[in-house]
Amino acid sequence: MRSDQNSSAQNSSDQEIALQMRQLIQILAKHNHAYYVMDQPSISDAEYDQLFHQLKALEQQYPESIQNDSPTQKVGGEALKKFQSIKHAVPMLSLGNVFNFDELKSFDQRIQDRLPNQKVQYDVELKLDGLAISLWYKNGQLVQGVTRGDGETGEDISQNVRTVRNIPLQLTHSKDELPELLEVRGEVLIPKSGFEKLNREAEQKGEKTFANPRNAAAGSLRQLDPKIAASRPLAFYAYGIAQCEPHHDLDSMSASLHWLKTLGFEIAERQWLVDSIEDVENCYQEIMQERPNLSVEIDGMVIKVDSLQQQKQLGFLSREPRWATAYKFPAQAALTTVDNIEWQVGRTGTLTPVARLKPVFVGGVTVSNVTLHNIGEIHRLDVRVGDTVSVYRTGDVIPKVEKVWQEFRPDTAQVVELPSQCPVCESPVVMPEGEALARCSGGLYCAAQRIEAIRHFVARKAMDIEGLGDRWVESLLHLELLDNVADIYSLHLHHEKLLTIDKMGEKSVQNLIDAIEQSKETELHRFIYALGIRGVGETTARMLANQFQTLDALMSADLEQLKKTPDVGDITAEWIFDFFHAEHNIEVIQALLDAGIHWAAPQAPTRQPLNGESWVVTGTLASMGRDEATQRLQALGARVSGSVSSKTKCVVAGEKAGSKLDKAEKLGVAVMNEDQFLQMLGGFEG
Ligand code: IVH
Repeated sequence: MRSDQNSSAQNSSDQEIALQMRQLIQILAKHNHAYYVMDQPSISDAEYDQLFHQLKALEQQYPESIQNDSPTQKVGGEALKKFQSIKHAVPMLSLGNVFNFDELKSFDQRIQDRLPNQKVQYDVELKLDGLAISLWYKNGQLVQGVTRGDGETGEDISQNVRTVRNIPLQLTHSKDELPELLEVRGEVLIPKSGFEKLNREAEQKGEKTFANPRNAAAGSLRQLDPKIAASRPLAFYAYGIAQCEPHHDLDSMSASLHWLKTLGFEIAERQWLVDSIEDVENCYQEIMQERPNLSVEIDGMVIKVDSLQQQKQLGFLSREPRWATAYKFPAQAALTTVDNIEWQVGRTGTLTPVARLKPVFVGGVTVSNVTLHNIGEIHRLDVRVGDTVSVYRTGDVIPKVEKVWQEFRPDTAQVVELPSQCPVCESPVVMPEGEALARCSGGLYCAAQRIEAIRHFVARKAMDIEGLGDRWVESLLHLELLDNVADIYSLHLHHEKLLTIDKMGEKSVQNLIDAIEQSKETELHRFIYALGIRGVGETTARMLANQFQTLDALMSADLEQLKKTPDVGDITAEWIFDFFHAEHNIEVIQALLDAGIHWAAPQAPTRQPLNGESWVVTGTLASMGRDEATQRLQALGARVSGSVSSKTKCVVAGEKAGSKLDKAEKLGVAVMNEDQFLQMLGGFEG
């Protein structure tokens, strides 16, 4: 009995450990993908390292639970599909990390233990913050360049590599001294000065800027068009030899680096050969001071046992060499003060607080703004205007406020509250309970939301103004002809101005004006949908039209009445209510009606025999498209969903219905063929 209990307790804790490992593996995999494949880091290196260490610690404690796909078992990243994959003849491994002198001393101790009575010298290098690549030379000629990829397999980037200015295409030794095969490893990156220039140019052209030099380098190397790579200020620094045939007679790392230099490769600007781990620490302290003056970004140092003979003796431990480690810099933080906290309004109306800081230099850049995300974050940090804060930044992510120094808070510090009015249009700001984000309710009127509002308003399923595409909208905003959606209906008064738009002749202007005129005759549910009320999609708009029958009734409905509409939950009801109570929205709606937008007066309330039921349409119907079938079902009150579940009332199955039909049959959900469907519609609609 007792032992049974024990073993089941053991089982459940094993499961818990495995679950915890799975969770960490999944999080790390997600961030690895963001970092290596998308070049869009989603967390800081320091956070990544922390999670990685957590997983490693668990695995050390429970080695029997180590999972095959754990990132501790392989190097991160995977090859992108667009380049040819190349398997590395010698895997491109990564390095273990140390973060402080104690950990560094343990690294040294492990080496001393394995090499008793041997003198160990360390080769100390900069840890360049770029991308590892491998270059193949045959008889001195560059033949191939490959990215690290996942360490086993990389991408063939030979074309791009040839455009990197300091990569020798031909090595500079006399021919008889050149190896038949030489594989050189090193880092490609964009030096700081080149990076700033690149981003300045991108900004001027209105293009996306890069978060940091590493991403800029990664993005450049992965360009399929080598002309783009050629236009980027990439540079390569060699740090190792993976293969050499016939074998060279070098006996140390430092000698290898020297030889590479004589062959024509560039080596990082600093490098040391030292006799003790204390000296390594001195180099580290020195380089931390010098870091801002270096021409390239570094994220630490790499310490390597200098003697190649000793390296061989030490060997590898799974993914890492025992003879080398990275000594990483801590994430950087700096103190500054909060001058103000402002609210920015996004294109969809979200209000985001942004702290304006006294400019401070941290992690290689000057930071003067930092997002505080939402009001909840302001409360969590308890950050006030006038506060002293720690701003934290690693090379790769946006800076953030990490800590508020309460002890430095001046008496004059001001608490920041969510504004009650939108800073752009003064409409009420709303935030339903349970939601993290506050929004401006002036969707139709707010200048910050203008483009989105117009796009939505003219869409096919809304007012269906054919031809008023993004290009038109941008030109019209530029000419200051559109302040809000109601101005669309005065465009005909600006005929001459419209003709000044590039490539818009008499005919296209007339077509646009005709399309606008035609859109005035619409249906109530389309109009409601076109208003772009948060939470009100097409189906809900139909439900509202059916429930309230007139726009007036809808606009004056109270929360309780709104909630009675099928499909409208508590939060959506609040959004609708707030929308129709924002004064500016009411003005715009009135202007739209004054312009002549109209719809057929409601006949007797439409019957809604399928009220609230969930229906699915699948396969091809001979008599109508799936859109039409959907609309007709919606008009009868049904919700039309894309997937079958036990809650589905009925599936309409046309020709070639596939898995949805199978699923309906499996779940015992009712199924209708096209004839039965038409008969039902006839019965209800007729
Ligand atoms: S040696 C087996 N030297 O750091 C040892 N790597 O985490 C292979 N790196 O992917 C690496 N500077 O991209 C070495 N001076 C340097 C380096 C360096 C940067 C990068 C390299 C590698 C990563 C290891």
